[in-house]
Amino acid sequence: MKTTISVIKADTGSVGGHNRPSNAMLAKAQEQVDMAVQKGLLSDARITFTGDDIALLMIHGKGVDNPDIHKLAWDTFVATTAIAKSQGLYGAGQDLLKDAFSGNVRGMGPGSAEIELEERPAEPFVVFAADKCGPGVFNYPLFEAFANPYHNAGLLLAPEMKDGFTFTIMDVNNVDADRVITLKVPSDYYDICTLLRDPNHYVIESVTENASGLQAAASSTSRLHNISGKYVGKDDPVAIVRTQKTFPSTGEILSPWALAHFTLGDNRGSHHVAVMPVKQNSIISFFDGPTIVSAAGYCVHEGKLTEAVDLFDQPFWDLIRTKASEKTLSIRAQGFYGPAMAGMDELEYTGVVQNLKRLGEKFVIRQK
Ligand code: 13P
Ligand code: 13P
Ligand code: MG
Ligand code: MG
Repeated sequence: MKTTISVIKADTGSVGGHNRPSNAMLAKAQEQVDMAVQKGLLSDARITFTGDDIALLMIHGKGVDNPDIHKLAWDTFVATTAIAKSQGLYGAGQDLLKDAFSGNVRGMGPGSAEIELEERPAEPFVVFAADKCGPGVFNYPLFEAFANPYHNAGLLLAPEMKDGFTFTIMDVNNVDADRVITLKVPSDYYDICTLLRDPNHYVIESVTENASGLQAAASSTSRLHNISGKYVGKDDPVAIVRTQKTFPSTGEILSPWALAHFTLGDNRGSHHVAVMPVKQNSIISFFDGPTIVSAAGYCVHEGKLTEAVDLFDQPFWDLIRTKASEKTLSIRAQGFYGPAMAGMDELEYTGVVQNLKRLGEKFVIRQK
């Protein structure tokens, strides 16, 4: 029997601004998935939060894009929204952008990453969850971890990996339908770089191993402003990455996060800051940020999860957190000028458009 790992996340309201869901919301989410385990819809589940986003990790045998699983997630987020409203929380129901569920959470606000797999004798995997950024935040660390021997030493040291990996990349600006391209390393290396350099437009959706055809990674790709036509909050993506044996080791998958790379997100989703790798259940603070990412390692066996290992809760990452703070402070010192703030393509969804329109009417053409 095949096992499916589904991670579906949403912001349905938070305490003290865009900060963290309330304990009552988390308890409600836990109760919903526990009921689904009792009924046999799920074989196991976990609830976590990263900043103001709740992530449901669900294990089942129903495959990806299953309407029952997606409905469970939607109904859970409707239930946590009701709690958020009853507590007067900020942004209650923020990521639920459609009124009625229609079979799949994709295109409705919540982000989803799913992999269906034949369990290996040992099946280690990592769930990444990010807050205050777009799904392109995974472009750099996923590409480097799978394609670059600087991080993935297994490309040189483990013969099974020498054929490289295939990346499915989505054009997230194409709103009418999924527009995707499939490219391989090593042969298409530069073409992949050409796309991934623009992480607000082209986003890694999945990674597959060339030698075995097995899927190694999946990432959510939803862009909330494309669904609602205006800025309603940031996408705050999730990703699942299988590790070890013919895939990169867990440490190789974590390695690129040590850069604390710059990404678009943070306050009002409109600022470039450095991503900070954080412990599970971390909150948001400075300048509605910084952009954070958590990483939980698990093994799954016959549909049952182990406890999580909190992969960024290790002294090494304290240094990286300091580095991320320093990088963020460095670009924040530039305020709204130039590259510190988002480019016009992203700001189009914000109030800056009205401001420019109003000012546009006051511009005059100087007569020669
Ligand atoms: P093992 O020998 O335990 O598989 O560890 C090797 C490894 O993947 C370390 O990166
Ligand atoms: P979230 O997308 O995490 O709700 O953040 C929205 C925001 O604008 C923070 O300033
Ligand atoms: Mg929010
Ligand atoms: Mg969020």
